[in-house]
Amino acid sequence: MSLAIVILAAGKGTRMKSSKPKVMHTLAGKPLLQHVIDTAKTLNPSELVVVCGNGADVVVPYVDEQGYKTVMQHEQKGTGHAVEQAKDYFNDADQVLVLYGDVPLTTTETLDTLINLGGGSLKLLTTQLNDPTGYGRIVRDEDGDVLSIVEEKDADEETCLIDEVNTGIMCIPARWLNTAINQLDNNNAQGEYYLTDLVAMAFEQGMLIDSYLCEDDMQVAGVNNRLQLSDLESHYQLTETTKLMEAGVTMIDPGRVDIRGELTIGQDVHVDVNVIFEGNNTIADNVTIGANCIIKDSVIGEGCEILPNSMIDSSRLEANVSVGPFARIRPGTVLANKAKIGNFVETKNANIGEGSKVNHLSYIGDTDMGADVNIGAGTITCNYDGANKHRTTIGDRVFVGSDTQLVAPVTLEDGATIGAGSTIRKDAPAEALTLTKSTVKSVEGWKRPVKK
Ligand code: UD1
Ligand code: CA
Repeated sequence: MSLAIVILAAGKGTRMKSSKPKVMHTLAGKPLLQHVIDTAKTLNPSELVVVCGNGADVVVPYVDEQGYKTVMQHEQKGTGHAVEQAKDYFNDADQVLVLYGDVPLTTTETLDTLINLGGGSLKLLTTQLNDPTGYGRIVRDEDGDVLSIVEEKDADEETCLIDEVNTGIMCIPARWLNTAINQLDNNNAQGEYYLTDLVAMAFEQGMLIDSYLCEDDMQVAGVNNRLQLSDLESHYQLTETTKLMEAGVTMIDPGRVDIRGELTIGQDVHVDVNVIFEGNNTIADNVTIGANCIIKDSVIGEGCEILPNSMIDSSRLEANVSVGPFARIRPGTVLANKAKIGNFVETKNANIGEGSKVNHLSYIGDTDMGADVNIGAGTITCNYDGANKHRTTIGDRVFVGSDTQLVAPVTLEDGATIGAGSTIRKDAPAEALTLTKSTVKSVEGWKRPVKK
């Protein structure tokens, strides 16, 4: 059965107290709306359309950019009215799944179960709550068949006692919806066109109504304020870290590790506290990650050791590499097997060869470095002339003395040695000592100033 998906995202989100549209607030580094879109995609819909209204100036281009459709709901006259705006997109589908841009954690399995209930029925996703206040109640007859959904503001005392509630998520036969949606009225306490009124309408017309009760509240929880947003964030993080621990990762405290994006991780990886994984990371077996590291869009090879307070961004580490503490590995860095980057070292667009060491206080940018090189403390590649970037080429077994500037473009050939404190503006030949001339003089009889 083909499926059209409508995501409602026109509401105001007043309680977020934010100038940013609610659905653009992030959970695990990703907008709430994106979580819903990503899950929706896994259901292979023939059509995916987002209903926009408040904050449309931000939301519409955001959705457009991904190639999905948007429709405008200029005035928010209720959930039924919102779905109606997307009506033109239902025609070719068999059923329409209604999702919400502020309900981010529903799983593919749950939605899959819902859309595959029965045949041409109206399908409701419900849940049971200890405190159902504020939700639409699922009203059933003695046989347990669903009769209607009654919004809290329209409910009598007895109805308010019902603890099975409407999650809002429902799946509706498209043909039927196309006519039924025009028949909704707004004769209710809120003067809104309720999507939920479709249920009583379906019952009256003798249509089958199925329901699936979702046991996990978090999957159907919406975000209305920042407190709820942080609750869902914690829940999401704990779910992700639990999966990793089950797969053989040690975490000192899973409550202090954050995963924002996709993480593929091997066995016997050891993760200390306050580590953040962002974007797409792949981490091989036996990697150790110290406290306070941020690893983004990178590939970390087997046996690497990332010491505390290091940042690694868009880089690749081969096996048994050591980085940090306090290292900053910037985009385009490749560290070959057994390379070592020490404290207060920044690299960018640099290939560091096998076994080479940059141990202290250096900047290595736009550089190709061979194997077994030793870079002394305080070495800087001067890669930028104020207008253009230039590369530094360093052969194998080069030794660079401390406090050296390598003014690119420049080449240090295999086995070259550079004297400490040099400013190298010309290529350094192989197996020779190159240094800049410096005279050392001592002044006889000179006295240190004394305090008056
Ligand atoms: C709705 C349901 C209620 C359910 C609850 C679950 C209706 C009438 N009620 O109530 O049964 O228990 O969700 O959270 O459907 N929206 C629009 N345009 C509108 C109105 C709403 O896009 O004109 C969007 C909002 O941005 C929000 C969602 O729809 O994401 C739900 O709207 P809201 O007004 O919060 O519905 P509830 O009163 O909570
Ligand atoms: Ca709501």
